[in-house]
Amino acid sequence: MRKIELSLLALMNNKNIINELERIKNNGIEFIHYDVMDGQFVKNTAFEGEYIDEIKKIGFKISVHLMVKDISSYVDKFINKNIDYLTFHIECQNDNVIIEQLKKIREKGIKAGIAIKPFTKIFDVEKFAEYIDILTVMSVEPGKGGQKFIPNTFYKLIELKNNVNFKDKVIQIDGGINNTNINEIKRYVNLIVSGSFLASYDDIEKLIKEVEE
Ligand code: DX5
Ligand code: ZN
Repeated sequence: MRKIELSLLALMNNKNIINELERIKNNGIEFIHYDVMDGQFVKNTAFEGEYIDEIKKIGFKISVHLMVKDISSYVDKFINKNIDYLTFHIECQNDNVIIEQLKKIREKGIKAGIAIKPFTKIFDVEKFAEYIDILTVMSVEPGKGGQKFIPNTFYKLIELKNNVNFKDKVIQIDGGINNTNINEIKRYVNLIVSGSFLASYDDIEKLIKEVEE
């Protein structure tokens, strides 16, 4: 599977978010990336659960990205929602808490995953591989849209491709993706998040033909 996901963050200030989502669905996008920020793990805040039912009703799959400090209470909140994938950041968490949360997510039939910041090493997350379905690799520092892709991420993607622990996992890349780098990136990943670029791109159908499979 390889799919492009629209990051809802790019529509945050859009007055008619549902209409815009319908337009994007009609252009062939099947996934929405749903960013949650707590103002602590990152400075900003984003979505807190709103629009999920409407997004599902339009027919999208939803992948939630928790950028929060208190992962346990956010996981509790989101496992009771109609979502497909749930990832949280593992930086500043202890291993037992991480594994406990991942098990909790899977028990609800949601695909469970961890998200890693640009300078978190693959080696440090290998121990969680058996508990995850999806790994979110951040290619910008988490916290806001519209940043520049960090080129070092390529080394990480190559490393992942050659790492047997992650061979059956969904790899999601998030941050700074646009039409100058998407064709290079696509070889390594399954879910490609795009916010600011995709929200203002006018030939989504062509992009889907080139990138998705
Ligand atoms: C950043 C978020 C991303 C962001 C991507 O912290 O996790 O999902 O919305 O937006 P762009 O594609 O603009 O980098
Ligand atoms: Zn995100």
